[in-house]
Order: sequence, then C-alpha cells, then structure tokens
Amino acid sequence: MKGKSRVKAREPANQYQFEEKQEYRETVWKILAENVKAASTASVLFFPGRHGSEIKIALRYGFQEENLIACEENAALLATAKWRKSYPNIKCYGNKLSRTIERLAVDKVKLDAVNLDYCSNLCTAVIDDLRKLLNYGVTQPNMILAITLLKGRENRTTMDIARLVFKEATGAVDRIGLIQSLLTSWNYWTQCLLKSEYRSNTKNMVFGLFVVVTAEWVKHQFQKFYESCVNEVDALLQLDDEVLMPQSFESYQALQKQFADRQYALKIKYQEFKDTFCLMKHSSYFNPYTRSDAQWRWHQLFSIGKRRHREDYSYFQQELSQTRQLLIKSESEKAQILQAGYAYK
Ligand SMILES: C[S@@+](CC[C@H](N)C(=O)[O-])C[C@H]1O[C@@H](n2cnc3c(N)ncnc32)[C@H](O)[C@@H]1O
Repeated sequence: MKGKSRVKAREPANQYQFEEKQEYRETVWKILAENVKAASTASVLFFPGRHGSEIKIALRYGFQEENLIACEENAALLATAKWRKSYPNIKCYGNKLSRTIERLAVDKVKLDAVNLDYCSNLCTAVIDDLRKLLNYGVTQPNMILAITLLKGRENRTTMDIARLVFKEATGAVDRIGLIQSLLTSWNYWTQCLLKSEYRSNTKNMVFGLFVVVTAEWVKHQFQKFYESCVNEVDALLQLDDEVLMPQSFESYQALQKQFADRQYALKIKYQEFKDTFCLMKHSSYFNPYTRSDAQWRWHQLFSIGKRRHREDYSYFQQELSQTRQLLIKSESEKAQILQAGYAYK
C-alpha cells in the first residue's frame, strides 16, 4: 500500500486493543498511583508501544505528562507513534531498556516507579534488565515495580529447574514468585502488591507489582526510629539511675513502676514500627544494626537487667574491697586472720 507502510513491530494482531488488556492497564496504574509517595510528582518509566493506550489512564490516576518516561526498543515505531502529538511532554528514549538505563543515569533521573510491560517471556535478558535497572542508581531507594511477561515458550530446561522451587498449585512455574526471590537475593526488601494473569488472544500473560526498597533504605528507617526515641531513652536511663539510688521502698516502687510503664510504651512503638516491614520479604542475612549512638543507647535501655546487674556488682565489689582494707590493717591482723582460716579448715 503506497504511502501507508507501517513500522513493523512484535505485537499481536489486535495491537493490544482489547478489553482484558484495558482492565489490566487500569489495575496496574491504579496500584502504581496508590503506592508511590505522590502520583503528581512521581517519575515513571514505561513501554507505551505504538498506541500509548495507558497514557490516558496514567494521567487520570494523577501522574503528570512531564514525569512520564517512554522507552521503546523500536526507534522507528516510537518516532511515528501518533500519541506523541497528543502528549508532547512525555520524555522518550528510542532504545532497548538496557541502553535507556545508561541514558537515564546520564540525565540523573530517579524513577519512583517502573512499568515493564514486556512482550517476551521470562528469559536471561529480562533478568539482566531488572538487575541493571536496580543497580544503576536510576531508581529511588523505595520504588514500585510492575512487570508483565508472556507465560510460556520459555527454555524447557530453565522452566524444569524453576518448577522445582517456584511451583504453583496448577503445576505451572510461578514466574512472579521467581522474580521476587531474585530481587530478594539481590538484597532488596520486597512486598508483592499483586500477582495476576490475563489472556491476550491465544496467550496467557502474567504480571506482578512490587514495592522494592534497598537494604540501606531500611537501615536508614531503623536509624530514624532510634533517633526519634533517643530523648525518651536518655530520660529512662536517667530514671533507671534514680531507681537504683538508696531510698524508701515506696519511692523505689513508684519509680520502678513509672520506669516499667514508659519502657513498655517504647516497646510498643518499636513493634508498630517493625510492623510496617512485616509484609516484606528480605534476605536472611539482613542485619538492622546501624552503628549509631541512638541505637546503642536503645540497647542499653532494653538490656536494663545487665545494666542493673553491672551496677550492683561493682557496688558489691567496692564494699568488699573496703571491708578487706578494714580487716587487714596490719600484718599481725593478717596473720591472725590466716590462723583463724587454718583453724576453721
Ligand atoms: C506489550 S507492548 C506495550 C504495550 C503497552 N504497554 C500497552 O499498554 O498498550 C511492549 C512494547 O515494549 C517494547 N519493548 C519490549 N521489550 C523492550 C525492551 N527490552 N526495551 C525497550 N522496549 C521494549 C516493544 O517493542 C513493545 O512496543
């Protein structure tokens, strides 16, 4: 057809214009909007393809045109895509994702969310893309990741091995579970927000959405928590010193009760803070130790038994040495004591 030649692309005959796909787009962008800090300022990388059908949806959920970043490996398709006229402020990269990541790093972009709507199945290239995306410094330390893959036609051996660990009730490989485990093994904390499927013509597509945060970010949250409590921790350590002072039993009891109540309130606060992470999957090697002074003081307060024991013990040692000094005033007394000792034995 003269004058009507179309840029060739890997896409189904219906060019992604069908009801299930529309529903899927709604779901993905809704979850992205609900989980980024603020949709109005969030930078999002996505694969809009020829029709950019999800752009309208993204804007409806509060994302801004100038914060949307389009990536398309088929540069000719991107250059001729009609949606570009309607949305001139969307930044476009006509490269494969792996190259786009390098360009994003040069442009100092920090992505709050990424929507990788692949047409391919689970393969090494997808895993390499993910790893590069997360390791290249182009994503925020807490970001939302959406990934969509073709379910099927993978390398048989890979799938047989994957099925050993990531098996669904149907016997199929849990591709989204496998991706989450990969992210965890790369030392990210992850929470799966949704794992689902839809039908595209004769093919099944799987998709998943995750919160992905770096272990450093989690440590930083712990540090912030300890710092937010440090004044109360110091006050309680001081109160603990008062508890240990010689005093009447009633006043000791009152101080001890106050101490225990306030220490318990801090414990509850800590539990609530930790609950914000309880749905996250993470590497068992993670250690939330922050080396901060605030955390050190926190540990002093929560190993108060040891602290009190040490105080009591040193006091006891002091008493003992003073008693010895009094007893052993002279060599003769020493001899007497020794004799008494022998006699006793
Ligand atoms: C499934 S389509 C996108 C459909 C679109 N999200 C929608 O909702 O209609 C995937 C698009 O991403 C492009 N693509 C796939 N893998 C890519 C990669 N690694 N880097 C850049 N673009 C890629 C494909 O050429 C295709 O145009």
